[in-house]
Amino acid sequence: MASRKESWTFKTSSTFATDSSVELCRLQTRPGQDQVCGMEAASTVIVVFGASGDLAKKKIFPTLWYLYKDGHLPKCCHIVGYARSDLSITKIREKTEPFIKNKDEAKETLEKFWKICSYVKGPYNEKSGYVSLNTELNKLADKCVQNRLFYLALPPSVFVDATQNIKEHLSDNKGWNRVVVEKPFGKDSSSSAQLSNHLSSLFKEKSLYRIDHYLGKEMVQNIMVLSRGPSESDDLVKSMGFIYSDTYQWDKKPNN
Ligand SMILES: NC(=O)c1ccc[n+]([C@@H]2O[C@H](COP(=O)([O-])OP(=O)(O)OC[C@H]3O[C@@H](n4cnc5c(N)ncnc54)[C@H](OP(=O)(O)O)[C@@H]3O)[C@@H](O)[C@H]2O)c1
Repeated sequence: MASRKESWTFKTSSTFATDSSVELCRLQTRPGQDQVCGMEAASTVIVVFGASGDLAKKKIFPTLWYLYKDGHLPKCCHIVGYARSDLSITKIREKTEPFIKNKDEAKETLEKFWKICSYVKGPYNEKSGYVSLNTELNKLADKCVQNRLFYLALPPSVFVDATQNIKEHLSDNKGWNRVVVEKPFGKDSSSSAQLSNHLSSLFKEKSLYRIDHYLGKEMVQNIMVLSRGPSESDDLVKSMGFIYSDTYQWDKKPNN
């Protein structure tokens, strides 16, 4: 039965339209931004914490691959997976590739992509792992200025330890440091405030990115239900409007 609503509107005032959080990395590390201070060449490293996990294999590594294939990562870019599991980049590749579409069309490029990836094993709550990771990152920098993006594909229980250690042991580079935190950002307003206070004690707000892949997903999935509604209420709703009112311009976020 067709809806009798008279009008539908859908507005968006956001410049941040993406189907993946790693779009953020593209915007913030796009080719051409790999020069710092106009003099020194910079390299970029994307560190995926929780590289052994579900999100990493289904979303983060596949999206980084798509960005690489389409030339959206900086020229000098490395990707480092970090987790406690006994893994290697070969194992991460095996776990990830089932989630990569059309990989046969770009076999050679895919080989090159995996060559810019490496893996470091270590804990989230002990200095030792971060010191090893820092050594690996410094090797990759090869005396260039190095920008570092830390992607926390981790359960929230690990956020505090991980960010504290990132600040203490991985932020002594000359380039920028940015931290991407996955939702949920706490389980209620008090735990959310606690996490925010912790993060802001370590990093400037402009270096922090909070990601929710599925923000509004349930609402959007229910649009059809809402539009039709129970037949008895159908005459009561005249129009529906959806306003996506995030005006934040991610690509204009200043460097730190
Ligand atoms: N999966 C998704 O599609 C999805 C979608 C949206 C948002 N998220 C969010 O993304 C984050 C990661 O999700 P995920 O599904 O990848 O999580 P996950 O697979 O449960 O965890 C990621 C990795 O973190 C480590 N880990 C897990 N539990 C831990 C614990 N209690 N203490 C220390 N380390 C632990 C494990 O690595 P090691 O043991 O090897 O260190 C694990 O492989 C979560 O905040 C989740 O809410 C996930």
